[in-house]
Amino acid sequence: MTTATLQDFEIRPFDAALGAEVIGLDLNQPLSAADFQRLHRAHLDHHVVVFRDQRITPAQQIDFSRRFGPLQIHVLHQFQLPGHPEILIVSNVVEDGKPIGLGDAGHFWHSDLSYKEKPSLGSLLHARELPEEGGDTLFANMHTAWDALPADLQRRVEGLQAEHTYLARYAELQARSPWRPNLSPEQIAQVKPVLQPVVRTHPETGRKALFVSEHFTTRIAGLPEDESRALLDELFAHSVKPAHVYRHPWQPNDLVFWDNRSLLHLAAGTPDHLRRVMYRTTIEGDTPF
Ligand code: SIN
Repeated sequence: MTTATLQDFEIRPFDAALGAEVIGLDLNQPLSAADFQRLHRAHLDHHVVVFRDQRITPAQQIDFSRRFGPLQIHVLHQFQLPGHPEILIVSNVVEDGKPIGLGDAGHFWHSDLSYKEKPSLGSLLHARELPEEGGDTLFANMHTAWDALPADLQRRVEGLQAEHTYLARYAELQARSPWRPNLSPEQIAQVKPVLQPVVRTHPETGRKALFVSEHFTTRIAGLPEDESRALLDELFAHSVKPAHVYRHPWQPNDLVFWDNRSLLHLAAGTPDHLRRVMYRTTIEGDTPF
C-alpha cells in the first residue's frame, strides 16, 4: 500500500475578487489528510482553486472529487464520458455530425444544479483540450454581492424564496444550438422545479450569499409576476458587477474547483472553429438554508 506523504505545494491567492492557484501539487500522488485539509481550507477561503498542470485520468478526477462528497450525475446522460457517468463532457466539438459534449454549458450565469433539492457543493472542470483563443470562465462572488447589496434591498429579500428550474431557458438554448436534445419523460421527472432561499447561508463558513441566477431562477414565490421579474433583474444585474468577478484564462491541464454555494459562473464562449474539451465532475451539497 502506498502511504501519502506531505507534498511541497504553494497556494497563491489571485489579485482578484476571488480565487487562488495551487502550484507544485501532483494529484497523481496519494493525498495525505493534512494536504487535503489545506486544500479544503483554500476552497472555503478563495471559492475557486486552480490546480495547475494536473495530468490526471478521468478516474483520478473522480476519486479526488469524491473526497469532498458524493458525485451527482447530470440529467443530460447523452454527454457522459463512456464508462464514467460521473463525468459530464463539456465541449463544442462535433464528430461525425454528433456533439461529443455539452457545448453551451454555462451560457448564462448560474450555480450548478441549483434546480435540485440538493444543489452542488462544488464542481471540478479539467482542461483536456483548449482553444488558442477564447474559452475563459467567469466567476462571481455571491458573498461580496450580498455584502454590497443596499440595506433596504437586503431587508426586502432576506427570507424570500425563489423557484429554480432546469427547464427555465431550455427551449431558448435548444432553438440556437445542437446541444440540447429533446428530454425524455424520465429526464423531465428528474428536474422538477424547486424553491430555494434567495439568500443562503454557506453551511461550512456561515457566510451569507445571494442565490439566484439568470439561468435557472424563474420567479420569487409570493410576489406578483411583474414585481418578481423586476426584483430578479435587479439582483441579477447587481450580482455580476465587475467588482465581484474573476475571469479565468485557462492554462493546459488546469483543474478548476469552484464552490457553487458561494459563486455563480459563466462560460465566455469559444469560437466555433476552435476545439475545447473539458471534463466536469459535480459534488452534491446540502439542502440550502
Ligand atoms: C459549466 O458551466 O459548467 C461550464 C463552464 C465552462 O465551460 O467554462
